[in-house]
Amino acid sequence: MSEQHKSTTHFGYKTVETNEKEQMVAGVFHSVAAKYDVMNDLMSFGIHRLWKRFTIDCSGIRKGQKVLDLAGGTGDLTAKFSRIVGETGQVVLADINDSMLKVGRDKLRNKGLGNNIAYVQANAEALPFPDNHFDLITIAFGLRNVTDKDKALASMQRVLKPGGRLLVLEFSKPQHEVMSKLYDFYSFNILPKMGSLVAQDSESYQYLAESIRMHPDQETLKAMMEQAGLEQVEYFNLTDGIVALHRGFKF
Ligand SMILES: C[S@@+](CC[C@H](N)C(=O)[O-])C[C@H]1O[C@@H](n2cnc3c(N)ncnc32)[C@H](O)[C@@H]1O
Repeated sequence: MSEQHKSTTHFGYKTVETNEKEQMVAGVFHSVAAKYDVMNDLMSFGIHRLWKRFTIDCSGIRKGQKVLDLAGGTGDLTAKFSRIVGETGQVVLADINDSMLKVGRDKLRNKGLGNNIAYVQANAEALPFPDNHFDLITIAFGLRNVTDKDKALASMQRVLKPGGRLLVLEFSKPQHEVMSKLYDFYSFNILPKMGSLVAQDSESYQYLAESIRMHPDQETLKAMMEQAGLEQVEYFNLTDGIVALHRGFKF
């Protein structure tokens, strides 16, 4: 059953009414937007930059193509794609949250980027784009926040061109027990304290740790992508599976 048809869903470890989750997620990202980039570097020891670099390397993107950076937030991937696709291409940075979009837009403009970037406020579950439109869609660290993930994946599949690809970069399941224990200790003991110290917001970082644990593991997400109509779906474990990059094609 698609999540939208269930009356309750998860917000981290909490069970909430399905129609409440979107607002609760919005609260988290309004709260963290201003400190998002600095916290990302701190929390991941800068490693998120390598995960994103790997995503670009697997994207096969070329000059002149159309990219959707969905749940693009502060625009790290958009900045890279904007340079690659050049003036004849286009990158759409779409996010449901206007605070995140604003931080992203200001950052990219300060970098002198903009001519080939469009900013769109949109929910991943109902993308406001035509069918068969994008050569590439990326959603980095966004899918776990979406209420109805099946609906969102189907929406992405719809707007991808035949021959296009979807890349989902997301936290996943560590592959080794030792890593899993270390990671749990870090996530539940250190991360919320960092959030409290640097961003005066421990709750959002507690949500981060919990939402990661509730997100589908590698094989489950692969099956969900196949169910949405994507083909040749495969995934790459990064940092022992703390993060995984899933890639699927539309033919
Ligand atoms: C952790 S941030 C990731 C930002 C960026 N992609 C990155 O990798 O740094 C997650 C983003 O997902 C966005 N988001 C959450 N739910 C969404 C939805 N249903 N549709 C579109 N964006 C959503 C949030 O507003 C937030 O900007």
